Amino acid sequence: MIRRYENEMKLEFMSKSNNEAFARITVAAFASQLDPTIEELADIKTAVSEAVTNCIIHGYEKAEGMVQIVARLYDHTLEIEISDHGKGIEDIELARKPLYTSKPNLERSGMGFTIMENFMDEMQIESVVGMGTKITMRKKISSSEEEENKQETNRILA
Ligand SMILES: Nc1ncnc2c1ncn2[C@@H]1O[C@H](COP(=O)(O)OP(=O)(O)O)[C@@H](O)[C@H]1O
Ligand SMILES: [Mg+2]
Repeated sequence: MIRRYENEMKLEFMSKSNNEAFARITVAAFASQLDPTIEELADIKTAVSEAVTNCIIHGYEKAEGMVQIVARLYDHTLEIEISDHGKGIEDIELARKPLYTSKPNLERSGMGFTIMENFMDEMQIESVVGMGTKITMRKKISSSEEEENKQETNRILA
């Protein structure tokens, strides 16, 4: 598919948990160009946080590697790709299931993918064992101004 992006950014950082906050704040700052509501921004931050944490904890485990984020804006939509070159996921269908975790001893909730799916409009998982994992998420952002206009219209019509 040929798509022309209105804006695009790429971010790469070491798989250290200190970088999780950095990553979610950076993506939120980039996304703010679409004029999201506070709630939409909170959803984006949570989804990014879950995906980045997964790269660090599951992708690389105790090893260290690079996590990459590519974010794009087009047509009032935010597209985010978060990837690692870690161990990969053997059974993607199982991994997506609510409450499934391969690390119950680390008190993981197994809700990361479910949260990403619910907080964003779309969430795709691509993974090859031994090669790594890429999560692609999309969210349509209704600009706050449009949202206010809609509310105003509803108020008048009510
Ligand atoms: N980047 C990744 N690399 C390898 N495995 C992953 C990755 N992300 C998720 N997984 C696998 O998918 C499972 C489910 O992920 P998630 O829903 O976030 O739950 P949790 O992180 O709490 O285990 C993980 O337990 C792990 O086995
Ligand atoms: Mg997780």
